[in-house]
Amino acid sequence: MSRLWTAALLCSLAACASVPSFEEPAPVWQPAFTPRELPMDLHSRSEPNRVRVTHVDLDLTLDFAAQELRGAAELSFDRFDASAPLILDTQGIAIVDIVGPDGRPRRWRLTEEDPILGAALVVELAAEDHQVRIAYHTTERSGALQWLTPEQTADRKQPFLFTQGQSILTRTWIPLQDSPGVRVTYSAAVRAPRELTVVMSAEQFGRGEDGAWRFRMNQAIPPYLIALAAGDLAFAEISERCGVYAEPSIVQGARDELVDTEAMIQAAERLFGPYRWERYDLIMLPPSFPFGGMENPRLTFATPTILAGDKSLVALVAHELAHSWSGNLVTNATWRDFWLNEGFTVYCEQRIMEEVFDPARSELEKSLARHELELEMKDLEPWQQVLHIDLAGKNPDDGFSGVPYEKGALFLRRLEQIWGRPEFDRFLKGYFDGHAFQSITTEDFLAWLRARLFAIDPAKAKSIDLEAWLEQPSLPADAPRFESRALADVDRERERWLAGTSAAELQTEGWVTQQWQHFIHTLPADVSNERLVELDRAFGFTATKNCEILCDWLVVAIRRRYLAADERLSQFLNQVGRRKFLKPLYGELVKTPDGLARARAIYAEARPRYHAVSQGTIDKLLGWTP
Ligand code: BES
Ligand code: ZN
Repeated sequence: MSRLWTAALLCSLAACASVPSFEEPAPVWQPAFTPRELPMDLHSRSEPNRVRVTHVDLDLTLDFAAQELRGAAELSFDRFDASAPLILDTQGIAIVDIVGPDGRPRRWRLTEEDPILGAALVVELAAEDHQVRIAYHTTERSGALQWLTPEQTADRKQPFLFTQGQSILTRTWIPLQDSPGVRVTYSAAVRAPRELTVVMSAEQFGRGEDGAWRFRMNQAIPPYLIALAAGDLAFAEISERCGVYAEPSIVQGARDELVDTEAMIQAAERLFGPYRWERYDLIMLPPSFPFGGMENPRLTFATPTILAGDKSLVALVAHELAHSWSGNLVTNATWRDFWLNEGFTVYCEQRIMEEVFDPARSELEKSLARHELELEMKDLEPWQQVLHIDLAGKNPDDGFSGVPYEKGALFLRRLEQIWGRPEFDRFLKGYFDGHAFQSITTEDFLAWLRARLFAIDPAKAKSIDLEAWLEQPSLPADAPRFESRALADVDRERERWLAGTSAAELQTEGWVTQQWQHFIHTLPADVSNERLVELDRAFGFTATKNCEILCDWLVVAIRRRYLAADERLSQFLNQVGRRKFLKPLYGELVKTPDGLARARAIYAEARPRYHAVSQGTIDKLLGWTP
């Protein structure tokens, strides 16, 4: 290994010799390499137990005119089976040629394309090969990439590009072993138009004299966390190790909204152990970003729809930050184990929120989350309700729901209740330390749980039914419940309104986003148009800039045929590409024939502006064939 590591390092140093600060390697945190048999990952065709990629060195040019990323990926790998080829995942990328360390071509072939997994790239290796260089370019089928026109950005001046790797999209812009069990370090040189700033989920070395932006990630990460964005970006500092990238016109507002991030990092370090990634920055992407946030290491990617103006949606930052421990430090080895990433992260997010804000806020958020989970589960098939989910033959995305998140977090909260917070906190820290920079399965977690928590007090272990929590659908009866005064206040005011008090007279002063959401969720199913007009007049729901409230309101508007919101609905669906909002809105529209017609008309216009992840989901919902 050390030979390989040195080789990888030397090669990336040689490539970047002109940038002085780049020559000093940053401290390497990962433990010494021990070849570890990886579990079977159904979502990768590579065979990392025979030949395993360890480092990726990218040399890329962003071509906005062609909407194409081109260049080369130099892969370093370990060989456990001398006779085995190197097998990589690819989807929608065009291979140009492949050469070995001697500069001579290697034989390669692409297998037939699997609609979910893509095509395997099989490279014949020479006896001494521990590295190959693959020249390639992306295509319009490279689903990770979204190329935006200037009109799709806040400042409308420059184009924008971002990538989204999770779950199995990194293979659409980099040929590699796209399995979360295969951890890699990476380095990159990226050329882009002069006006743009390029950022990646790595240490940033800025633009060199040769015009290329340089990056290095010295900690071994799963491939889905390799990420890149380029646009007209400014930066605003929050603390010495933390700040926000965003387009110039929104960067200051974003910074003010996210100013508590440093306090969150400190709280997380107290709870979970040291922050091991040096910097924690965020980038606010244009509104077509398909997720709320994505925990790319050192640089969370986030939707601008969390900028509500009152910090009410910053739990999302606590969430993405928590992934610096659960997910990025300790990673799900396969997508079956996704709940290990998200369940732990929601639990940790809630713990951070408890520390940084007052307990009432956190109770409110937990309470609402449990409410929403119960509602959502009613519409899920039994297999989707299982934490240790069976994804055989499926895209990991098909299993996506609130279950790994909220049911996962409730499971951990239940363990905390049984063992008590001090004991559980020790366990948690030990879990992160003991698996740092490793990818683990649900079985690994269970073995650790039994050895490190259950063994302390076997009598307590009897009070939890692991099989029910991990392998069965629905929510176990011992799932923790939360009491929220703030929600009780909402319930009281709603009842007063239903009993005849006018909306304008309700006591809603100081209500936060989540209270308004609860109010809207719990309106009677047959609420009349007249009364919706009254609410709208009193509270301005249709005009609100708060996307969470707006989305929930528009769902009611569609359901109750409240036509005054029609214009706002098509405007919203044309502007925002966050799947969490698109899904319930299109989902509500398709329930009636005229709604479906309307959905299709809006979608025909809006679809080209959505990221492939959102397109995939909405295509299915509408029965759309592109
Ligand atoms: N890692 C996820 C986003 C994700 C999951 C992308 C699966 C692709 C596949 C991220 O951490 C996340 O959970 N984001 C949430 C926000 C969070 C506060 C629940 C989102 O985007 O809504
Ligand atoms: Zn998450």
